[in-house]
Amino acid sequence: MFTHEDLSQLQANSLKMQSFIRQQTFSPEMDKSLRRFSSWEVAELILKINQSTFRGRLAVDPSLPDGLVEEDGRQRWYSLEEVNELRRKMKVKRQSLLPKRPAGKRAIRCAIANFKGGAGKSTVALHFAHAAALDGYRVLAVDFDPQATLSHSMGLTNVSEDHTVWGIMARDLERETNRMNAAASGAQSGTSLPQRRIPSSISDLGLADLRVNDFIKPTSWPTIDIVPSCANAAFVEFASAQYRHLNPEWSFFAAVSRYLDSIPDDAYDLIIFDCPPAIGYQSMNAVFATDVLYIPSGPGYWEYDSTTSFIGQLAEALGDLSEGFGKTFPAGKVSLPKVFQDIRFLVTRYESSNDLHRAMVEAFSKVFGDRLTKNPIEMTRAVEQSGRFLSSIYEIDYRDMTRDTWRRARGSFDRAYEEFKETFLNAWENLEDEQ
Ligand SMILES: Nc1ncnc2c1ncn2[C@@H]1O[C@H](COP(=O)(O)OP(=O)(O)OP(=O)(O)O)[C@@H](O)[C@H]1O
Ligand SMILES: [Mg+2]
Repeated sequence: MFTHEDLSQLQANSLKMQSFIRQQTFSPEMDKSLRRFSSWEVAELILKINQSTFRGRLAVDPSLPDGLVEEDGRQRWYSLEEVNELRRKMKVKRQSLLPKRPAGKRAIRCAIANFKGGAGKSTVALHFAHAAALDGYRVLAVDFDPQATLSHSMGLTNVSEDHTVWGIMARDLERETNRMNAAASGAQSGTSLPQRRIPSSISDLGLADLRVNDFIKPTSWPTIDIVPSCANAAFVEFASAQYRHLNPEWSFFAAVSRYLDSIPDDAYDLIIFDCPPAIGYQSMNAVFATDVLYIPSGPGYWEYDSTTSFIGQLAEALGDLSEGFGKTFPAGKVSLPKVFQDIRFLVTRYESSNDLHRAMVEAFSKVFGDRLTKNPIEMTRAVEQSGRFLSSIYEIDYRDMTRDTWRRARGSFDRAYEEFKETFLNAWENLEDEQ
């Protein structure tokens, strides 16, 4: 017979192995680092300019960064900081190489969500974050999933639970309850309204004193930060249910949205959410905070089935929130019902040689029309392999595999990213200016 203590023992063994695997994967210090990019990659794949134009510019302008020449002596290799410096300093055909950003707007927010496990959410979130950073954008990733796949892939392992989405939610409960209490005692009605009490088990955590930046951690990519998750954050679902009980008027689903509103508009360009495979307190926060909803799905029948029930349940949950909180929701930057700038479906792990996959994409296309993206993400050995090293295809050095294999896998993500970019740029333009 087994109890929770046996589970604990099994986990303790597993954790030892986990730390060994991480050491093997990253480095003895368990620090993830970002590689340099070759002049071929920088010109053709990143800045999208002719290689000879690039070499010509470097030859005549000594203020441009030099990169490093590696042993083979043939190519220069540039850090991402240097690539961004090139973007700032170079113009090609009088065009700036800086990425488009509508003036005066806050960062655009995109949630990668589906409750089907293994749909490819974390893989898509990781690759889009990397593709956007290579494209010159400043990215904030938010890991809403207690499995912490994205946090681990971005090299964050020792995260305290206070500094996760759970911490943001508990801090919001305290702040919102204080705000409501102050409003109630300030009311001129003559009858004093009841005060809600936050138990010391929560207020003693000191979360109310945490600053916005305490939740944000740097990653090995200089222009990507993350609000990480950690395994202990799994209890957030239980805790959130308790918290709602403490203050039923607390708009629990808007905690992360309020948090993100407090980040300066100009601090980031793109905020990407990786969601857990569930509809719960965390994913509702992600969905409520996002401008664009991106729904990845595998190309199988069961995945189609599951995606269908996901959007049904999400519709119901958002409808319920609107009804339940419509009258009490505090006036602010967002209102009820929740409005998305765009909703898209993205087929992942697609094999064009597979008849079933092709038939499923056709079915998706019939049902979702324009909402289905045109470029599915192909199933490739290269991505499967890089995933095993907790890395994206962008992080893997192309010399570590056949260049064509790497190119094909990268090409699939590049095309999906270009379409994603078109979607978020459009949504960004349409984002109403907020005070
Ligand atoms: N295009 C692809 N080619 C090859 N393997 C892929 C591809 N996309 C995802 N995978 C693999 O499929 C597995 C599941 O992917 P991923 O972790 O991204 O799914 P998820 O939706 O985030 O899962 P969860 O619901 O558990 O959070 C991973 O092992 C990943 O490496
Ligand atoms: Mg995941």
